[in-house]
Amino acid sequence: MRIGVLTGGGDAPGLNPAVAGVVERATINGHQVIGLKRGWEALCVEDNRQHVVKLGPEIIREYSRLGGSKLQCSRTNPVAENNDRTELVKENFKKLKLDALIAIGGEDTLGAGAILCERGVPVVGIPKTIDRDLAGTEYSLGYDTALNVICDSAERIAHSAESHQTIFFLEVMGRHAGWLALRGGEAAFADIILIPEYPFSIDKLTSVLREQLKASEKMGFEHIYKIIVVAEGSHIAGEEEVRKDAKLDEFGHFSLGGVGNYLKSLLEHEFHHTRSSALAYLQRGAPPSQKDRQTGRRFGNNAVEMINNGDFGYMVAIQHSRLTKVPLEEINKSPSLVDVEKYYDTGRLNVKIEWTDQQK
Ligand code: F6P
Repeated sequence: MRIGVLTGGGDAPGLNPAVAGVVERATINGHQVIGLKRGWEALCVEDNRQHVVKLGPEIIREYSRLGGSKLQCSRTNPVAENNDRTELVKENFKKLKLDALIAIGGEDTLGAGAILCERGVPVVGIPKTIDRDLAGTEYSLGYDTALNVICDSAERIAHSAESHQTIFFLEVMGRHAGWLALRGGEAAFADIILIPEYPFSIDKLTSVLREQLKASEKMGFEHIYKIIVVAEGSHIAGEEEVRKDAKLDEFGHFSLGGVGNYLKSLLEHEFHHTRSSALAYLQRGAPPSQKDRQTGRRFGNNAVEMINNGDFGYMVAIQHSRLTKVPLEEINKSPSLVDVEKYYDTGRLNVKIEWTDQQK
């Protein structure tokens, strides 16, 4: 068999190990793997010679340890209402003599995969996004590495914050989901965590800060600083999320970013030294963690196994902590967001620290 593999959406640590896992199992099973560069774009252009690369076992060692995507990514939507390229995708699929396609991506890439599969393209999916908000799976590639970066960065920022007695906003990604902020902030012992699922009031934020500072003052100079981990999608109640600009991508998403700076500007008149830093793409560019390498390898291997079994229209998933497969359409269900009642303390604007039945 000839198996095509592509990575779509934003890059995430774990994509390359997943491709390595695909090649590993394909080699064992005597299949050929064709890498398709720049996500769905590879199948949406007439001349895709530059988009196509043969992937043999020689790539495994290198791919297994690298962040980003060697196959590159794009946010190309092959089934956009105003630009549907299904027929071109099918033609290219035939021209490249492919028998199956593995799409590695998030809600958009896999959602498009589900539609194309219904229309006759044999697709199998692998879930990735650092946001960890996909329906149908408890884990998506990249989340663990991004959490580690957040935790490590908060630690570094705390050194600077301590030295200058700063109120520091550390903005992290996650789009509309607060998992990265919540769990990254929890691990970093953040003083305050702001998540999109709980729109807050500026009065509440200021009063929590004042109280915390009063307590810190009693402990001595070196304690008068605060780390506030703020999710890029979090916002003041009644206000919109802060957007980077007015542009929409092919799937209709705005780019979020800037809420840390915005909050800093609202508070700096009262708190003498406030700073903000957005982690942005540093969260995605790190070398994949052990978990993202191992899970990527397993996802890749299992995706080929699914092709062997003819399980098209499914994606690899983790459910109840076990590796399994679910229909690709699951990806279109409501995203997995933070359950505020269960996991968030609205009084302290912070994570609820207690024993929970599952490690979400
Ligand atoms: O979905 C992953 C993600 O990193 C989000 O957390 C973030 O909002 C978005 O992608 C950024 O997208 P882009 O790479 O297009 O700026």
